Amino acid sequence: MTVAIIVHGGAGGWNVSEERLGQALQACADATKAGRELLMNGGSALDAVELAVTILEDCPVLDAGRGSYPNAEGDVEMDALIMDGRDLSMGAIAAIQRVRHPISLARRVMHESGHNFLVGKGADAFADRIAFPRCPVEELLVDDDRKLIQHDQDEVPTAALGDTVGAVAIDLFGNLAAATSTGGTRNKRAGRVGDSPLVGSGAYADNWTAAVSATGYGEALMRVVISKRVCDFVGTGLSARSACESAIRVLEERTGGTGGLIAVDARGRVGWAFNTQAMPYSYAVGDESVVIGH
Ligand code: GLY
Repeated sequence: MTVAIIVHGGAGGWNVSEERLGQALQACADATKAGRELLMNGGSALDAVELAVTILEDCPVLDAGRGSYPNAEGDVEMDALIMDGRDLSMGAIAAIQRVRHPISLARRVMHESGHNFLVGKGADAFADRIAFPRCPVEELLVDDDRKLIQHDQDEVPTAALGDTVGAVAIDLFGNLAAATSTGGTRNKRAGRVGDSPLVGSGAYADNWTAAVSATGYGEALMRVVISKRVCDFVGTGLSARSACESAIRVLEERTGGTGGLIAVDARGRVGWAFNTQAMPYSYAVGDESVVIGH
């Protein structure tokens, strides 16, 4: 099977400086290259999407891990989901604080917690029990204009920036995986959880159809269970690209919401779609050149 990986840096307005957009695109390209190399060396799709998302979580201009939006109380509460298309196993966390790589904690939930999804205090306790690396909130907050913007919500609508990161991949053995990580929406209420950690909304992976990661306005995305919907469209015969476009149409027509999607189907075809102004993304199929766009 030819390997493929596609990543996104969050759908939104991206009406930011060229420099910041350039940083986002560079992080997408770096994540794609690292994931592709792992896949070409026989690594699993699951490992590739986790690795790619950790690189995106480290990028300070993206809303995940370092660079996450603070909530209305100034805390950083993050959500993440990882899913293995081989057996539909999944791990998710929500409202987790003081971790640099929420996606890796979600992966540990999947393998070591005996559950699928941990939140808040329970997620914290689990992280401590497995000695998962913690960090001060200051390490997650980035000293740039986003922190200033949050104090004046009226001036910059939420959709003016981007949110969430994600990756989906297919490995040499035809296995699919998906991963999504986010700091959520800017200035959200404490305890608010969006679509990202919800299975079928923020991501879905099923070897029978496709692997998908979503981004955008979580309150709308979760109502159409958008990632599973893409898989279902692929199941009816659509390509990854057409399935993403169809699901974005459903999002728009049923909820009026905005967002973006990336997908790879079981035939190794990549796809993406968004109805925001931009969504930094990058992909690689086999050893072909890495493609970036927004
Ligand atoms: N899509 C990320 C969120 O709404 O939290």
